Amino acid sequence: HTLETGSVTWESPSNIALVKYWGKKKNQIPENPSLSFTLNKCKTITTLSFTKKLKEDHTFSFDIYLDGEKKADFKPKIQTFFERIEIYLPFLKKYVFKIETENTFPHSSGIASSASGMSALALCLMSIEKQLLDADVSHKEDEGPFTQKYFNQKASFLARLGSGSACRSIEGALIAWGKTEGIEGSTDLFGIKYPYQVHENFKNYQDTILLVDKGEKQVSSTVGHNLMYNHPYALNRFQQAHQNLETLKEILGSGDLDAFNALVESEALTLHAMMMTSMPYFILMKPNTLEIINRIWNFRQKTGLPVSFTLDAGANVHVLYPHNESQKILQFIKSELVVYCQNGHYICDQIGLGANQT
Ligand code: PMV
Repeated sequence: HTLETGSVTWESPSNIALVKYWGKKKNQIPENPSLSFTLNKCKTITTLSFTKKLKEDHTFSFDIYLDGEKKADFKPKIQTFFERIEIYLPFLKKYVFKIETENTFPHSSGIASSASGMSALALCLMSIEKQLLDADVSHKEDEGPFTQKYFNQKASFLARLGSGSACRSIEGALIAWGKTEGIEGSTDLFGIKYPYQVHENFKNYQDTILLVDKGEKQVSSTVGHNLMYNHPYALNRFQQAHQNLETLKEILGSGDLDAFNALVESEALTLHAMMMTSMPYFILMKPNTLEIINRIWNFRQKTGLPVSFTLDAGANVHVLYPHNESQKILQFIKSELVVYCQNGHYICDQIGLGANQT
């Protein structure tokens, strides 16, 4: 008996890096380790339907729909993804796929959907691999490799080959990716759950995303990572990321929020500094990004409240703060920061636990 047709659905979140991944080697191997908070509300929901081809051919057959609309311009990225992962999923050319996807956050919000999108697709593909194995009678007897751990690791491994940061979206709440001495079990190949005790200050940590610029990304992350080749500060930066992870490990244990804020902000500005000092060079912040940063700093100095920012490779600002200070800080965000958002648009999110099959 084989699997003729079916469909699977996964919803998978975005994530926000505290120590940033910027720069990669061949095969989506990161130049430095990174650590992220998995988000909760910013998600991609993907349904993957599959029908067995009458005769296997030499092409990947698939169509992609975003919010019900066929997206031909997404095809090259998925084509590349399938080419990279075919050796790990030999069934890919045997089926015709329909990929239907939607995001819980508005598209063209400037929020990267590659992490949530690629992880959702990788998880759907893993579910098919599992169904194929279940349908194969010869495999019924043994348990097979399909432990939950194997499933998640391979999903993360595959997601990485779609978009590096996507490997950090399978689970939560804190995910480490990239081999580094201080984190046991860390690997370049997939994300792992942060294996140490985390201080309760970081439980339900809040991330309010201020949408400063909803336009198309000025620099794709592929171009961005490539800027780290021959970058004059690259080696120091990669070393610094290892050190910052060590420091962050101490902070996560002790709950020192001042140290946390300093480290996370420095990481964000360093990421942007790398882009400003590459050739060609880019400024991805907008005037309103700087307005927001300055207001956060003033507010923090005035009130002593533990609020900080981080940035992706774009102009939007992620405002980070502990759950128990939400009321005052959210009040500040609404009264002072939201005016700098495009159309007053922002998203209140928090740390989440990872992807779900629906
Ligand atoms: O996953 P990519 O290739 O889109 O790279 C994303 C890199 C940053 O978001 C800027 C940093 C990170 O660690 O997520």
